[in-house]
Amino acid sequence: MTMHAIGFRRYGDETVLEQLTMPLPSVGEDTVVIRVVAAAVNPADWRLRSGQLRLVLRLKLPFVCGADVAGVVAEVGPQVTRFRPGDAVYALLATAAGGGYAEYAAAPESSVAHAPSRASFKQAAATPLVGLTALQALRDQAQIKAGQRLLVYGASGGVGSCAVQIGRALGASVSAATSGRNREIVASLGVDEVFDYTHDDITKLHERFDVIFDAVNALSLRRVQRALKPNGLLVTVNPLSDKFAPDWLAGLRGGRRLRSVLVRPDSGDLDQLRRWIDAGTVHTLIDRCYPLADAAVAQQHSASGRARGKLVLLVDPVLADTPIAERTE
Ligand SMILES: NC(=O)c1ccc[n+]([C@@H]2O[C@H](COP(=O)([O-])OP(=O)(O)OC[C@H]3O[C@@H](n4cnc5c(N)ncnc54)[C@H](OP(=O)(O)O)[C@@H]3O)[C@@H](O)[C@H]2O)c1
Repeated sequence: MTMHAIGFRRYGDETVLEQLTMPLPSVGEDTVVIRVVAAAVNPADWRLRSGQLRLVLRLKLPFVCGADVAGVVAEVGPQVTRFRPGDAVYALLATAAGGGYAEYAAAPESSVAHAPSRASFKQAAATPLVGLTALQALRDQAQIKAGQRLLVYGASGGVGSCAVQIGRALGASVSAATSGRNREIVASLGVDEVFDYTHDDITKLHERFDVIFDAVNALSLRRVQRALKPNGLLVTVNPLSDKFAPDWLAGLRGGRRLRSVLVRPDSGDLDQLRRWIDAGTVHTLIDRCYPLADAAVAQQHSASGRARGKLVLLVDPVLADTPIAERTE
């Protein structure tokens, strides 16, 4: 049995993407096979495709792009206990395995969760990578506490827009930095104040924040340390950055430290995101949706760095728009 997928046989620009005919994913002992309804596009997808990560991540070619999926369980392995065929689920696939831009995808049970019933499949697909990154950055790296002051830098992107909402859910008082064109959309997420990073110099703010979360890898600790309170923390999405700012140097910076996040699939964290989405606390912003066949156009838009929220590929366009609670199949 085969399926259609979008991927590449050699590294290069978006023109190397092609429709592939691939074998259906096989069911392992603890595997959930998902009939994909929608899949999200992330910066990691075009970075992997371009070959810029080939020294750190060796991919098996042909490679099917995509880490975020939402869909319906087609089959489960004998050790799977929490899912049955027909369940609506969402999942974060392993970066090096990919497999999201396809009619079917497989993931270990520990990377899958029941999808939020209040969302549509396209909203569910937009959530895992950015939602888990924001949650794990703020809860685990920043250990943010109620009442603390958080600045989310790059608040209009997928990670940033989730971080604003998750920061609020964790009780922080949230400020955001974005460009003027995205001011309104970011303000609508319920932040206390919005800075326009093209005009306002946040490095001149004095000891304002307990935590700055740089969701777009644009800041350095040296640049923003004055805006952090003593013992404050900069958290970045560049997983290598804190290697260059070890904690023993913090004494020279009034205790100010640097941490980074490297997202990991986690079904318990996906359950937490589902509860927030179903309660209306978190709403993943979607910029644009594309048919699966237009994955190259979507990756080009992502690579422009200007996406407002998420880009989603519709594998089953009718079902993708349906609120999950209302689906009949
Ligand atoms: N470490 C990890 O585990 C991990 C996990 C997920 C993502 N990431 C990384 O996190 C980054 C963000 O991912 P994403 O999915 O959120 O990206 P994205 O949605 O494509 O981000 C696009 C947004 O970034 C904003 N932006 C671009 N340059 C900016 C700058 N210099 N200052 C402030 N905002 C800026 C843009 O707003 P304007 O148009 O207003 O500038 C745009 O709305 C990527 O580099 C990604 O690879 C890392």
